[in-house]
Amino acid sequence: MSGRDYMKWFEDARFGMFVHWGVYALIGRGEWVRSNERMTAEEYLPYVERFQPQSFDADAIVSLAAKAGMKYLVFTARHHDGYCMFDTETTDYQSMHYTGRDFVREMTDACRRHGLKTGLYYSLIDWHHPDYPHYGDRIHPQRDDPAWKGVSHDFDRYLRFMHEQIRELCTNYGKIDLLWLDYSYDNMRAETWRGEQLVQMVRRLQPGIILNNRLEASGEGFGSLLSGSPAVTAGDFVSPEQIIPPQGITDCRGRHVPWEACVTMNNHWGYCAEDHYYKPAGMLIRKLVECVSKNGNMILNIGPDGDGAVPAESIRILEEIAGWMKHSGESVHGCGAVPVGKPEYGRITGRDDVLYYHVLEGMIGGVPLNGLKREQIRKITLLKTGEEIPVSDSWITGNYPDLVFADLGEDPRLPDDIDTVLRAELTETSDTPGKMVEY
Ligand code: GLC
Repeated sequence: MSGRDYMKWFEDARFGMFVHWGVYALIGRGEWVRSNERMTAEEYLPYVERFQPQSFDADAIVSLAAKAGMKYLVFTARHHDGYCMFDTETTDYQSMHYTGRDFVREMTDACRRHGLKTGLYYSLIDWHHPDYPHYGDRIHPQRDDPAWKGVSHDFDRYLRFMHEQIRELCTNYGKIDLLWLDYSYDNMRAETWRGEQLVQMVRRLQPGIILNNRLEASGEGFGSLLSGSPAVTAGDFVSPEQIIPPQGITDCRGRHVPWEACVTMNNHWGYCAEDHYYKPAGMLIRKLVECVSKNGNMILNIGPDGDGAVPAESIRILEEIAGWMKHSGESVHGCGAVPVGKPEYGRITGRDDVLYYHVLEGMIGGVPLNGLKREQIRKITLLKTGEEIPVSDSWITGNYPDLVFADLGEDPRLPDDIDTVLRAELTETSDTPGKMVEY
């Protein structure tokens, strides 16, 4: 673990839900639609007015997450379009004004009802506020719109506005466990956001809150958290997007750095009507296990549609994940990497005195329990059913006296196509190989 107490719940949780939802969902071409299609504020306004979701049900979403074994949820309080999904004094460009609803309130209340940790996503970028850099910016919808050329803006005024919204979010919604700021680019990073002041305010208002690294960096490096001497703006974990780091993540001294891979189910964060390229549930489960085996978290996204309904494909995937997590979630929650190399057939996760061998591919003969000696093993069970699994005493294994093989029986098919987990409980006296790496 990272050695910082307030990070413990996060690193135990391992699995969270991201919810990207806002006005853009109504258009159905992802949350970047304003930028991608260079829409003006006037072109976007009809959608702002038409965004009157009837199907949004925070409790139903949080309960889907809880059943899938997700222990925290991060909700887009505001995305790059600048539309606030909460009641704010700073602007009328917000859901209470247009819909009479405060979606951040609905989500944070629901999270607490279902025992999930509460996280908010907040975009540092704002494509609506006139004082945010527009013409000549790299991504602003009006970046090359001649009408905006030479129009001055007062960035200081924007910063005051943005800090004030974050102050409201950290003041009006009870305990916020995690703030997911997004994102930095070009010279828009760290002190440009007046980052130190921002972090100090957030940590003062919400002691113990966990911050990501995106005040400093988003894709090009992970920021000063990896430098060995993190700046105030470094955050607490790094946030690789749409990728699982090949070797996990360590700082320049080789010490573990908490990380969370953020992953979409299809290829968009915000609702995209045409994108049906959903990842199969089995794949997502195996990727979650991969993250855990490398000491990381996975936060998996859903993008409700313009009416607030969760796409049917996403619900199906979450239910399938829930089915597996119900019997094998023990090998994910509270688990992390073990100091044993990755076996050919799958992966290993572990906690205290238990190792979980994730068998993703059937073996010819027994399943080698890499890293363990026979006298270190108290008991092997199939996690899914609790059935005890014997150690193989076949003569075939005689040539490998240093390896222990679990005997799965005569049927060559694995008991779980997605991931068959063997739980190896270690004896109290057993030496280190089984134990989790201490950080
Ligand atoms: C990005 C995108 C964005 C998405 C996010 C999630 O950097 O700008 O739309 O919200 O990351 O990781």
